[in-house]
Amino acid sequence: MIKLLSKNWNIKIMKSVIALKMTPKETVKALDRYIIGQTDAKKAVAVALRNRWRRLQLDEDLKDEILPKNIIMIGATGIGKTEIARRISRLVNAPFVKVEASKFTEVGYVGRDVESMIRDLTDSSVNMVRQEQIERKKEDAKEIVEERLLDLLLPSLENNQEKSETGTSSNPTREKFRKKLNSGTLDNRMVELDVSEKPSGAVMEFMPVSLNDNMDMNIRDMLSNMLPKQSKRRRVSIEDARKILQQEEVNKLIDMEEVSREAVSRVEQSGIVFLDEVDKVASRRSNSQGPDVSREGVQRDLLPIVEGSTVNTKYGPVKTDHILFIAAGAFHLTKPSDMIPELQGRFPIRVELLSLSKDDFVRILTEPKNALIVQYTALMKTEGVELEFTKDAIDTIAEIACQINEDSENIGARRLHTVMEQLLEDVSFKAPELKGKKISVTPKYIKSRLSSLLKNQDLSRYIL
Ligand SMILES: Nc1ncnc2c1ncn2[C@@H]1O[C@H](COP(=O)(O)OP(=O)(O)OP(=O)(O)O)[C@@H](O)[C@H]1O
Ligand SMILES: [Mg+2]
Repeated sequence: MIKLLSKNWNIKIMKSVIALKMTPKETVKALDRYIIGQTDAKKAVAVALRNRWRRLQLDEDLKDEILPKNIIMIGATGIGKTEIARRISRLVNAPFVKVEASKFTEVGYVGRDVESMIRDLTDSSVNMVRQEQIERKKEDAKEIVEERLLDLLLPSLENNQEKSETGTSSNPTREKFRKKLNSGTLDNRMVELDVSEKPSGAVMEFMPVSLNDNMDMNIRDMLSNMLPKQSKRRRVSIEDARKILQQEEVNKLIDMEEVSREAVSRVEQSGIVFLDEVDKVASRRSNSQGPDVSREGVQRDLLPIVEGSTVNTKYGPVKTDHILFIAAGAFHLTKPSDMIPELQGRFPIRVELLSLSKDDFVRILTEPKNALIVQYTALMKTEGVELEFTKDAIDTIAEIACQINEDSENIGARRLHTVMEQLLEDVSFKAPELKGKKISVTPKYIKSRLSSLLKNQDLSRYIL
């Protein structure tokens, strides 16, 4: 029996992970819609994701042996590391968190301890599973809500009616109201409803700022459960009452126990942690003092989590063995080899992201679904201004961005943002008066807007 149960359970997990079933090619293609180039990094991520799915197809004993191959993405600033993470998080239907390694502090110091990322991951998983349950229970709740609304509409009837009469459905008045209710004609009718209110946020403000994250959280939960749930009688329209009751009934139907269990196992089987800015904690110069000491400490704290350990969360203990970690960093001042050896070993796949060329810039400006040109054009359209970029103009913008990256600091594709902003500052400011006009951005226009800045290196350094 127990075996059977656990088998069923596994099938459930599998089902939820099937969404991960995209082939590596499909994943790369999906990322291509937003990120230009960086094929190696995309491929590595795609393969890692696929491996999760492959592992889940295996027999129990082999499955446990196969650990995820964590990835480090190395590359200068502004070339798409974080962007890749952001996009895969939307793509995969897996619990996901993005955290900054530099935010963590060694256990015992003020700040966030590294275990909090697993707790965050679990929170996001719980939300995900809960949301799915809500979707699933909506229909069931609807029926109950309908009955409750009818009770509200016909309170007196309800009292006179003997309930033993095989429910209430045989009552003709009730059936008439049911029809009216469903056709929406009663939506504006007012009814009185007891609305339960959550303990107000104000109470929580009394909490000490930060104990340990975990403790903090538990106490908050405890407190909010301890406080009496207040309910208040309100007059609301049927339309609003339906929404309120729907939420209440759905919540009643959801088995939080089951949600927690499923959420935890999803985290364990398919969770992904994106660990940004790892280069900032990569240093093991034990001779220097100060922040370095604690950086190495953070690495040491990271180790057990990446290696596989058990973290306590409010939904129960979470094993981290099979969670996929994707780390990223610019590694300007430090190298991956500056990380403590044990940690290096836990990130066997290293991919380098390439710096972006002028041609890449042209593509970044135009190709992604959310490309800058698309964004600015859409923004101006809301003011009734038609913005148009000639092909030469886009070329010129890319070239200018490239040039400034070379002359001053290389900030990658972020340079396009500063250039575009400067270029369109005037139009942006005057847009409300330009309603109905068409503005064509040509190389000539660009030169006229930016030439003074481009001539003066010092000035351009500040402004562009
Ligand atoms: N390859 C790319 N394709 C499309 N857009 C890109 C690309 N690289 C960067 N961008 C754009 O530049 C911005 C910054 O990129 P991102 O946040 O990924 O930088 P990063 O590599 O994480 O840098 P950092 O090391 O500073 O964190 C993004 O908002 C994105 O729009
Ligand atoms: Mg980043």
